[in-house]
Order: sequence, then structure tokens, then C-alpha cells
Amino acid sequence: MQFGRLLAFACTLAFALPAHAQTAGPVTATSPDGSIVVAVKIVEDGRAAYTVTRKRTPIIAPSKLGFLFTDVAKIDRRLTITSQETRDFDQTWEQPWGEWRTVRNHYRELKVGLKETDGLKRDFALTFRIYDDGVGFRYEFPDQPNMHGANIAEELTEFAFAQDGTAWWKPAFQWNREEYLYNKTAISAVGPADTPVTVKLGDGTHVALHEAALVDYSGMTVANGSAGNTLHAVLTPGAGRPKVEKKGAWSTPWRTLIIANDAAGIYQSRLMLNLNEPNKLGDMSWFKPGKFVGVWWNMIKGEWSWARGPKHGATNANVKSYIDFAAANGIPQVLVEGWNVGWDGDWFGNGNDFDFAGPTADFDAAMLAAYGKKKGVRLIGHHETGGSASHYDTQLDRGFKFAADHGYMVVKTGYVTDAGQIERVDPDGTKLREWHEGQWMSNHFIRVAETAAKYKVAFDSHEPIKGTGLQRTYPNWVAREGSRGMEYNAWTGNKNPPEHEANLVFTRMLEGPMDFTPGVLSLKGSEDSDILSTEAKQLALYVVLYSPVVMAADTPENYAKHMNTFKFIRDVPTDWEETRVLNGEVGDFVTIARKVRGGKDWFIGGVGDEQARDSSFALDFLTPGVRYEAEIYRDGDDADYRTEKRHSVTIEKRVLTSADRLNLRMAPGGGFAIRLKART
Ligand code: NOJ
Ligand code: CA
Repeated sequence: MQFGRLLAFACTLAFALPAHAQTAGPVTATSPDGSIVVAVKIVEDGRAAYTVTRKRTPIIAPSKLGFLFTDVAKIDRRLTITSQETRDFDQTWEQPWGEWRTVRNHYRELKVGLKETDGLKRDFALTFRIYDDGVGFRYEFPDQPNMHGANIAEELTEFAFAQDGTAWWKPAFQWNREEYLYNKTAISAVGPADTPVTVKLGDGTHVALHEAALVDYSGMTVANGSAGNTLHAVLTPGAGRPKVEKKGAWSTPWRTLIIANDAAGIYQSRLMLNLNEPNKLGDMSWFKPGKFVGVWWNMIKGEWSWARGPKHGATNANVKSYIDFAAANGIPQVLVEGWNVGWDGDWFGNGNDFDFAGPTADFDAAMLAAYGKKKGVRLIGHHETGGSASHYDTQLDRGFKFAADHGYMVVKTGYVTDAGQIERVDPDGTKLREWHEGQWMSNHFIRVAETAAKYKVAFDSHEPIKGTGLQRTYPNWVAREGSRGMEYNAWTGNKNPPEHEANLVFTRMLEGPMDFTPGVLSLKGSEDSDILSTEAKQLALYVVLYSPVVMAADTPENYAKHMNTFKFIRDVPTDWEETRVLNGEVGDFVTIARKVRGGKDWFIGGVGDEQARDSSFALDFLTPGVRYEAEIYRDGDDADYRTEKRHSVTIEKRVLTSADRLNLRMAPGGGFAIRLKART
């Protein structure tokens, strides 16, 4: 059983204060290695504040806590500390798929009891899990005489950075949801921003601010309300209701701060995964990570249509030819969009006509499933909801049963509507408009995960709620979009700039797998428009941007013209034993090495930005004494994303060992990809 292996060590050291004892603190605890110290104390007006220090350097200055409610008095002042408890935990668990096979969950927990000294005298706890690479904390409210749940107007949590710094972030509450380019500003200019927000402090320390285990709560964005370095939580609104509604005992998701010396260290943290509950789905051996091609790029470019008619893409003939191409190239899946009823009208923001078990007449689902099965290829079904999430709720069983009946292992979902325009219909017929990242949608996604799991189907959600590590609990939630993917390169005018992926790695990718859909080797979008990348960089994305399901997004006709580089896409796997970030700076460049799950081979990818850059790194992570045959795909000496030379690629073979160092030049807009095959 893959998920069950457990090496656990846990012990509780309780420092409970004597009954009725009260203190203003500070109460403190350290990470297992002592480098990170969290303190909680009562400051002016009886407000509770926490601080985080790393290697004796303040990272988070006193930051206040609390809540506004829509119906009762707020909680933020006249507080006292009533108890403190610490507990050590050390467990290693195994991921059914992922960037690391095993994950060590090693923390010290500090639980601080707080109580109002007058008024409603409400109790709550702040629980910190302190890791060697960061901190997660949450509020926990028991059901109590003066509080049976909560109607939250706002969460008052602050994150007061103790130094000036540079922040990378994208705007929240804009119509296009999470699909914006990254801003690079002073901390004082942040927000409202989606998380993760990544910050480089004056002394070089990197901090990523995000959340873990977003379940039955609204997504947290952050904003700066002062000229200083203090960000504060801004919860996603509810539909004409409190931002969050809770009954009985309740707690928040974990507010997380990953802290490291450099950008590479931020990426390597597993804190978010560890702060999620273990696998609830049991055996996941039915899900096999892998690549897919799709009846898609021609649609997103506007040459084929989702709707029925002369340009309809999802025809039997087209799907069969994609299955043939997949089978010929060892690619196990084919995505098909526009295969079902509902696309003919204006489906954007209006998905009530979609039938998730209703194929169009020119898509013979049973025949195509059988045709694929003969060739070892499954289809990936597509469920575009147009943001009509309640309509989708009513069809979840029907849709996932149809998928399972036709042998689909993965379904791609989508919620294309403007932000704040998800259609929710309550059982009494009341219609409401929700945000993609609100509390109601957080629960919708759990319903999708549970229903899909019932049919042993995995899913990949576009226009999703942000990733907060729930793939640990629901390992069938294998990927999501949630940022600007390759589709922006299909459109004219507003393409992803060369620095985009070096931004994503240290921001969006901290949320978990992204369905970016790389590999457009033609480097062409609609109207013959140029993509701002070299061809070698497209290969690098297979290593750099992690997902267990990865598309080869270009068309078979285009791949036929680039078979020399397509070979790397055929060879690269999508599931890893371990991952090392070898170098990187947010928005400038990054190099990542990954070892094949259950194998000996390694793959390395590097991407840069609009400047020519050198990536220099030691291969000391390779097994000593083993000789590796390296296939290096790098930018040709004349490569440049701004000219036709964007296609200039040099492919070379070398024999390398753990004693070697590589120094590779990346062209403007460039990158490189390496396969290292262990000689047996
Ligand atoms: C947007 C998604 O990101 C894209 O992949 C999909 O093809 C369209 N919506 C249509 O569902
Ligand atoms: Ca999208």
C-alpha cells in the first residue's frame, strides 16, 4: 500500500499554565533545529501578536490577530494568554505521485490558549507548527457558551515583515481570476494580492506567504493598508453573506510562511503538503501519472471550434488521428474538448446547457474508447461548466460515471466566467453569485474530488480555487491551472513574457501541480503570431513546471516538423523520486533536477528570462561512480526568442558523472533540457 508507510515519532510536552493563570507572555517555541523562533504575546490594548525570528533575525515583527463578525462583537482586544502546550512530531510519509516520493513532516507545535478578559469571554487557541523551513499557524475555536460558530466579516491576521523587501504577486479580485502577470514591487505596494506572495527581504532571506488546507473557508488574499511592510488578510467575499459561515467548533486554514536563505530553498519546502490531512482516498494505484496530447491547441487558436458546425474539433476522425499519434509516440492519453452538448450558444459564464454525459452526434464515445483501448490510449474527458457550479453539482455523478464507463482516468474541468460570477443555486431555488475562491467553492471542489474518487477518476481543474496542498488528502485532484498558462500564447497581443515561468516557479508552483500545457514547438499562436520563447525552453518546461499529468500541447502536424526535439517530450516522465532546485532567482532564472520515480535516471531543466543567462551547477547529486549518458538540448549559439533563430537548438551527447559541473548558456527567452541516463 503506497500511502500507508509511516515512520512516526510524536510526543507531547505540556507546559499548561496553572488553572486560571493568565499571562501577557511572551510564550515561545523553536523549530526542531532551533533556527526559527515563534513568540506570542499580549501587546497594547490587550491585543495578541505573534513574531517569527530566524537565525536571530526578525522576519515577522509583532503582527496582530483577530476577527470581525457580521453579527457579534469582534475579537481582537482585551485578550490574555491562558495556556501553552508544545508537542514534537516527526513522521515520514509517502506520496502516491509527486515531486518527492517520501516527505518528512518534522515540526514542533506550540498551542497558545487565549481568552477575552471581559465581554463575551470567548476562548480560542492559536496553533503554530514550526518547521526548520517555516511556520504554519491557525486559529481554533471550540464550541462554547458564548460562541457556537461564527459569521466572519473579516480576518484581522497581519504579516508584518520586519525588513523592507521586494515582493512578487498578482492582483486579486480582478475579472480574469488568477490569470494575471506578476508584479514586482516593494512590500508596501502589495495588494490586494492572491497568495502565494513571495518576498525577498533586504538581507536576502526569502519568504513565501500562503495558506494550507483551504477547506470550508474562503481563500485568503493579502493587502498592504499602510505605507510600511505590514500585509493583512483580506478574505474572499461570500455571496451577499458573511465571508465565512461556521457552525459549532471551527478553525481556519493554516496561514503559512516558508522561510529560506534563497529562492531555491523556498521551492524545496514541503510544509504546505505536511499541513494537510493524510490521504482519505486509500489506494491510488489506479492513477498513473503521464502525458497527454489533445484536440485542443487548434481550438484555443481559433482554427477549430468547441461548438458543432463545420469547424468542430471533436469529430471521430480528428480524435482517431490524435489517438494514432499518441499511440505511435508512447503517450497514454488524449484530451478531447467540445465533445459534449452545451457549447453551441454563448457558454462563457453560462453553462446550464452542458451535458456531461451527452456526446455530440459526430463524437462516438463508445467507438472511440474501444479504438483507444486497442492502442493503449485513454481519452481525457472535459467538463467545462461555464461557471455554473450548481448545475455541475447536479451532474457530478452522471459526468464521472460516464467518464469511468468509457475508461477515462482523468477529467479536465473548467469554470470559465468572470471572477465573482460563479452561479450557485440553493435547494430552495435562490440564485447567488460566488467567487471562484470563496467558501462555497472550497466546498464545491471537495464534492468534485469525492465524487470523482467514487468512480476512480482523477481531475485537473481550470479556473480553480488556489492550490493549498489538498492533493495530499485527495490525491485524485492531480492538477489545476490557476495562473496564466500556455493558452495566452495562442492568442495575439498579450503573450506570456520570457520571465513568466521563472516567476511561476517561485509563486504559483508553490501551490502544487500546474496544468500549464507546455511543448508548443512550432512557437506559433493564432495568426502566425510568435511565442516569446526558444524551442529549447519549451522542452525545459517539462522539468521545471511540475504536474503528474502534462500535455504535449502542440498539434501532431507541428510535432512532425520537430521530431528531433519532440524526442525529449517523448522521453521525459511526469513522476519523480526526488527534486532539487540547483539555482534560481525569482523572475530571472531557475534550474531544477528531478530523479525518475523508481528509477536511476535524472532530468534537468533550466529556464531564463529575456536576457541571455548562464546556468552553472554541479552534478554532485548524481550517484557517485555511475556514468550517465547525457542528452543535452540547449539554445543554439545564435538562438534568440526575438528572431527566427528561436528555433535554433543544439542537441549534444556527453558522458557525465557526479564529479562534473555544467555551465550552459541560455539565450534571451531561452532554456535547456537534459536527460541523464544511468549506464547499467
Ligand atoms: C479555459 C481553459 O484554460 C482552456 O484550457 C479550455 O480549453 C477553455 N477554457 C475551454 O474550456
Ligand atoms: Ca484558463
